Amino acid sequence: TGSQLDLARRRFPGGMGRLAGLRWLLVLAWVTAQALAAAGAEDSKAAVGEPGPRRHAYAAMMYMGTPRDYEFYVATRVMMRSLRGFGADADRVVIASLDVPPRWVQALKDDGVKVVSVDNLKNPYEKQDNFNSRFKLTLNKLYAWSLVSYDRVVMLDSDNMFLQNTDELFQCGHFCAVFINPCIFHTGLFVLKPSMDVFKNMLHELAVGRENPDGADQGFLASYFPDLLDQPMFHPPANGTKLDGNYRLPLGYQMDASYYYLKLRWSIPCGPNSVVTFPSAPWMKPWYWWSWPVLPLGLSWHEQRRENLGIKIHKTAHYDASLIF
Ligand SMILES: *[C@@H]1O[C@H](CO)[C@@H](O)[C@H](O)[C@H]1NC(C)=O
Repeated sequence: TGSQLDLARRRFPGGMGRLAGLRWLLVLAWVTAQALAAAGAEDSKAAVGEPGPRRHAYAAMMYMGTPRDYEFYVATRVMMRSLRGFGADADRVVIASLDVPPRWVQALKDDGVKVVSVDNLKNPYEKQDNFNSRFKLTLNKLYAWSLVSYDRVVMLDSDNMFLQNTDELFQCGHFCAVFINPCIFHTGLFVLKPSMDVFKNMLHELAVGRENPDGADQGFLASYFPDLLDQPMFHPPANGTKLDGNYRLPLGYQMDASYYYLKLRWSIPCGPNSVVTFPSAPWMKPWYWWSWPVLPLGLSWHEQRRENLGIKIHKTAHYDASLIF
C-alpha cells in the first residue's frame, strides 16, 4: 500500500489529510471488527458452558472392615474439602470399595468428590508372618493406576493434613514419592501417571506373589520401584511443563508430625512446607480427642474439620466415641 499512497500523494498533492483520515477510519473499523469477533468467540465459548474434563486428580481410597472405618471416612472428607479450600485445580476422587455405605458415598458426592467403586483387590500376602491385617486392603491403592482419564494423579492416605496448595505436584513424573525413612519411600502421598499397562502388570505381580516385605501397599510399591532412591529430586519446571521419569519428592510434602513436634513448627528453607502426615502409631492420628490438648497438630486438624465439615456430619452416622465431637 506504500506505493499506492505514494501514487495518491503524487496525484492529489495537498490531499493527505483526507487520505490519512480514511486510513484511520479503516484501522478503527478493523480493530472494532476484531474486538467484536473476539467477543463473539467468548460468547460461543460461554454458550458451550462446561470447561473440558480435568487432567489431574487428587485421589484417596476408602474401604470397609477395619474398626476405624468411620474415622477414616470423616478424615477423608475433611482432607478432600480442605483441598477444595486451597483451590486445588483438579478433580477429587475417592476409590471406594463396593461395600462403602451408600450414604457415605452420597455425602462425598455432595462434597463434589468423584467416587469410583471397585472390588477389593485380594491380598496374596495374608499368610505372611509379619502380616498386619490392618493393612489387608491397602492394595486397593493400586487402582490409582487405572484412572487413565487423568495425566497425573496424586494418591493420598486420609491422614494427610495440607497446609497449602500443592498442584505443582501434577508436573512430576511417572512415579514420585517422599523418603521419610532414609531407605524406604512412604506411600501416604505419591504422584503417578495412570497407565493400564502398569496397572495390569501390577496385578500380575500380585498374582505371582512378588516380594513384599510388609504385605501392604508400601512394601509392594517399594519392591515395584526399587531404584527410586537413586532418582533425581523433583523441582517443578517454572514453565509449567510436566516431567517424565521417576523422582524423589522433597520431605516437605510428607512432614512427619513427630518431627514437627520437636519444635512445634516446621520451617525448612530448602523445600516446600506443604503437607503434614501422621505415619506413626494409630493412636497418634490427629482426630482423636486426646491429640488436641497434647499435640497441637490435632488442634489444627480439628480446626480444618470445623472449617470444612462443621461438627454435625450425619445424624444417622453411628457415633464413635473416639472422635472428639
Ligand atoms: C521447560 O523447562 C524445562 C527446564 O526446566 C526445559 O527442559 C523444557 O524444554 C521447557 N519447555 C518448554 C516448552 O519451554
